[in-house]
Amino acid sequence: MDKTLLATHLERVERLTLLTQPTPLEKLERLSQTLGREIYIKRDDTTPFALGGNKVRKLEYLGAAALAEGADTLITAGAIQSNHVRQTAALAARLGLDCLALLENPIGTNAANYLENGNRLLLDLFGATVENVDSLENADQLLAQVASRLSVLGRRPYVVPIGGSNALGALGYVRAGLELAEQIKQSGQHFAAVVVASGSAGTHSGLALGLEYALPGTRLIGVTVSRPDATQRPKVEGLLQQTAELLDVPVPVDLKIELWDNYFAPRYGEPNPATLASIQLLASHEGILLDPVYTGKAFAGLVDGIERDLLGKGPVLFVHTGGAPALFAYH
Ligand SMILES: Cc1ncc(COP(=O)(O)O)c(C=O)c1O
Repeated sequence: MDKTLLATHLERVERLTLLTQPTPLEKLERLSQTLGREIYIKRDDTTPFALGGNKVRKLEYLGAAALAEGADTLITAGAIQSNHVRQTAALAARLGLDCLALLENPIGTNAANYLENGNRLLLDLFGATVENVDSLENADQLLAQVASRLSVLGRRPYVVPIGGSNALGALGYVRAGLELAEQIKQSGQHFAAVVVASGSAGTHSGLALGLEYALPGTRLIGVTVSRPDATQRPKVEGLLQQTAELLDVPVPVDLKIELWDNYFAPRYGEPNPATLASIQLLASHEGILLDPVYTGKAFAGLVDGIERDLLGKGPVLFVHTGGAPALFAYH
């Protein structure tokens, strides 16, 4: 395993520069005192584009590929309150491309805030065209159909998969893993665990690969936001394999994927009492906003892990992947 090899291969892949410097690694002083445990946070919620969040890192690679192919339209899909769709629409605007988004209502709500506010409101500002669909179960197929429809009309569409989670998008989090490993080394801390939300899996897979190369043995826990371990694991492991293949590096033999799936109930897109409590806890102690769909659930996992002594000894680190614009949709 050679960190330099990984970094060199990564540098060969074309990317846009939306992020010009590392996102901060901060200590949560007040919360650490309250919970009796040192907690640090990697602020990927502050990536400097369209209200921030993890998708910016993936879109650096996907946007570069779209431009290289001469695309004139980005097509993607997600929930009505998808952060990924928000950031993809913003990138299309930045690049002077059109954006067409397929949106589903995963919680079947009629609440006006969900249907119109939060991320959905921003899609209109970014000038995206929206098509509502009943379900995104076959999202890849639906996206391919839209792409053919546009191609027939003479357009040049580029499909960005759900969550930006293919091997190319996951490279953004391989890079983030190298960046975080450097910050951890500089902090002089030995973290017991790094905790991150695991959804469409690009963030988790990429981070796992980057961290294992740069700081072998780092314990990374993916808190699932939509699926039990049994169905999330093949997604994470499969994407990890594809990402390593794209970079032409081996998957480290010691790399183990750890998933916690006790925090996503009742289902994707619907917060539970612990989700809401964790949002309140971080907001009231640190002035930092989590979200009701991803980070609120992942942070609830971290807090529970501390309370039930599941995280070993030493400080813990939370990777904040953003999502706060959805707060306004869940009011
Ligand atoms: C705020 C936020 N956190 C975490 C995730 C999960 O990342 P991934 O889909 O790469 O697993 C998402 C995905 O949409 C997100 O919007």
